Amino acid sequence: MNVLDVIKTRRNIKKFKSDIVGEELVYTWLEAAAMAPNHRMTEPWEIYFIGEETRGTLNHKTNFGNAPILMAILSRHGATEIETAENAMATACFIQNFNIAAWAEGVGTFWSSIGITGKNRDVLAVPENFDIIAVLAVGYPEETPEPKPRTPIKDKIKSLS
Ligand SMILES: Cc1cc2nc3c(=O)[nH]c(=O)nc-3n(C[C@H](O)[C@H](O)[C@H](O)COP(=O)(O)O)c2cc1C
Repeated sequence: MNVLDVIKTRRNIKKFKSDIVGEELVYTWLEAAAMAPNHRMTEPWEIYFIGEETRGTLNHKTNFGNAPILMAILSRHGATEIETAENAMATACFIQNFNIAAWAEGVGTFWSSIGITGKNRDVLAVPENFDIIAVLAVGYPEETPEPKPRTPIKDKIKSLS
């Protein structure tokens, strides 16, 4: 697939096969993810691989579609509010790089906000100076949803003088 096809066919996957995703592949995608733009090279992301015991405590209603891999992607706070916001944006770029790299190899991801609440921060033992940007489930899709319609991009464009 060319890059446009990868971007356009990616979906948030809700049901996964139990097939193992090779560790080497995951590291390759994490390395690609780390090429994300980040202001002042803060590289604010950290990755927690979530094991079975912790995963059970997260108590997700579908167990993350039974994905074989679960990760939390954290973003470090900056010295100012603006730097913290910039770091979160950079980490979102990191996550989308990962999503796209994985999808190019037929592996899907499920982006969940479950980690944002205080309880789940505690479950994941997140330090105070970090935010959880996503809990990301990773695996081969059992089902790939139809695309969700988007507003025509022309409706989102303003041309300023
Ligand atoms: C910041 C962020 C948080 C998200 N949190 C959730 C979530 O908690 N649960 C969920 O089902 N999807 C979540 N999603 C995925 C979106 O629901 C999904 O991307 C959207 O419905 C469009 O579908 P698509 O990605 O398949 O095109 C999140 C996406 C982003 C960017």
